[in-house]
Amino acid sequence: MIQVPQYTRDLLPADFSNDPSAFVHAFQRVETVARASFHRYGFQEIRTPIFERTELFARGVGLETDIVSKEMFTWLDRGGDDHEGESLTLRPENTAPVVRAYIQHQMWTKSDLVKLFYIGPQFRRERGQRGRFRQFFQVGAEVLGSNDHPAIDAEAIEMLMGLLAELGIGDTELRINSVGDEECRPRFVEMIRRELADKIHLMSEATRQRYETNPLRILDSKAEEDQPFIENLPSTIELLNTECRDHFEAVCRYLESRGIRFRIEPRLVRGLDYYTKTVFEVVSFSDAIGAQNALLGGGRYDKLAETLGGPPTKGFGFALGLDRIVMALPETTAGPGRPDLFIVHLGAAAFEKGLLLAREARTAGIACAIDFEKRSPKSALRLANKLKARFALILGENELESGQWTLRSMADSSQETIPASDWLASILAAIGSVRNAE
Ligand code: HAM
Repeated sequence: MIQVPQYTRDLLPADFSNDPSAFVHAFQRVETVARASFHRYGFQEIRTPIFERTELFARGVGLETDIVSKEMFTWLDRGGDDHEGESLTLRPENTAPVVRAYIQHQMWTKSDLVKLFYIGPQFRRERGQRGRFRQFFQVGAEVLGSNDHPAIDAEAIEMLMGLLAELGIGDTELRINSVGDEECRPRFVEMIRRELADKIHLMSEATRQRYETNPLRILDSKAEEDQPFIENLPSTIELLNTECRDHFEAVCRYLESRGIRFRIEPRLVRGLDYYTKTVFEVVSFSDAIGAQNALLGGGRYDKLAETLGGPPTKGFGFALGLDRIVMALPETTAGPGRPDLFIVHLGAAAFEKGLLLAREARTAGIACAIDFEKRSPKSALRLANKLKARFALILGENELESGQWTLRSMADSSQETIPASDWLASILAAIGSVRNAE
């Protein structure tokens, strides 16, 4: 038997899975709520390819990041055409692709502030565990333009927190920090190198390496032996220049004025190199979520467009990990598969008639199922029950002859006779009234 590749999974209709965190319908529900929220906040959808030139991520996300140095699915194209030998990569994230599209389509010429959202799979070659997959799904948004007003940061965070509340996801914490700009960054690095110089030999191997290549990411280390040293480091917020500090304080004020609770987390640096100023994450304390408890993350990236060869552009965005959001949902609804109408037929002529009626019903917007076996009416009704059909239309020879058909309410087994000439209207009315009552 061939199974899915390691650390990937099938998302399934609820009927075929015992794992609510893999129910397709739960994913759809989050996507629907997110789309409505994006619409209210003025975001438009963008769909970029699921693979891009490797260089985009190397330059955009940063060569020293775990994502680029270890986790990308990269291959050399062997198309046999002009691009033979080109290095391509399954996208590990969607911010660099969106900024690439912004530049490629010169979006700034059409609008000062471009607000885009995306929903789709991302790929990272990580070691799988609860809430961590090699193909996972993100819902994300990016605000691009000339403006870096702190109210933009606060508004996006407001939208996110509203989205979590609407989905009923509680027990979370919003953590926020500022990683400064190109003027603050060398100060951070200098401080970290200085403070850890005589301790670095006691720290984890990854941290020793980062000390050389990317000292800021030491703050993000999860290694236990590193924690006491990291906790004792001075806060980077103290090292921000005036502009970055003003920006950060304004974001915090805007959040406070909206009643959004947050914690300033001076160790939060995030695993992508493009960030400047604001960075944030929301973690979940729900029992359903394991150690991988970051539900979403994001921040400001005011240099990314230039890094990718575009004009100076300010950027702010975030991405929710859909797989983790679904795990944190309070309850999972059963899914939309429930038919309004199930057609029960007795005899060959009734079956043929039933097939045509099913088509008409569906065209009229009714979710309709029909029995393709020669079941007895009794066992067909049992099946209708199992499918949670709202009504059954019973057609036998007598019914066909008399033009008086039987409509059965599956909820209370009551039956009424409906005229063949007006069957669709009768059924639509019956469905409408039970749906209103549900
Ligand atoms: P990120 O923090 O790498 O940020 O990913 C965002 C979210 O995606 C995480 O908080 C997590 O919920 C989910 N996630 C990441 N890796 C996995 C995985 N292997 N399995 C399951 N879920 C995962 C970004 O990707 C940035 N592009 C966010 C952003 C947008 N920043 C600015 N704009």
